[in-house]
Amino acid sequence: MTEQITTDPITNQLASRGWAVIEGFLPTTTVAKLAQEARRLELRRAGVGKSRLINNEIRGDHILWLESPQVTELQRACLDRFEQLRLALNRDMKLGLFEFESHIAHYPVGAFYRKHLDSFQQENRRIISCILYLNQSWKTEHGGQLRLYLNSKDYMDISPQGGTLVVFFSDQFWHEVLPAKRDRFSIAGWFKNRG
Ligand code: OGA
Ligand code: MN
Repeated sequence: MTEQITTDPITNQLASRGWAVIEGFLPTTTVAKLAQEARRLELRRAGVGKSRLINNEIRGDHILWLESPQVTELQRACLDRFEQLRLALNRDMKLGLFEFESHIAHYPVGAFYRKHLDSFQQENRRIISCILYLNQSWKTEHGGQLRLYLNSKDYMDISPQGGTLVVFFSDQFWHEVLPAKRDRFSIAGWFKNRG
């Protein structure tokens, strides 16, 4: 048997340190079209926890779950790309990822999401968190960074630049979304185990 050698930068980074950031997860044109489409969608205030209560002190984004049959052709292309990633993660890291749930998110100017973990306390099936950004020409001074805590004192700030994908283990990495001076669009998703 030959040992599997992975050349995929996502699985490489994820395997070595538990989180990954890559640019160009989807072609720029697809990202731009997804963003354009997202602006026309009817999103709803996102809730918190399993019971999905609305709490302005915790999060201020508006979301739409990407669930068939209402996913658009563009969203389908994006979900197909995530399906490729699921297969790669299962092949290279033997994670047994079973399904993917995701939503489009819009953070209006000033909205934030306080420091949190993505795994639910009871019944956690979320193994890997993914966030794909849809914002063109994002500048540092626009704010809206994802602050990813690497341990109790160090963190990384990642700008929500269109096409950038951030991936991390859902039960290990605390993170927060800083308020932005621009509307901020993303697709957040979770690879889940079978439960
Ligand atoms: C989330 C989340 C981060 C981001 O939706 O749980 O943490 O950068 N999103 O949008
Ligand atoms: Mn989160």
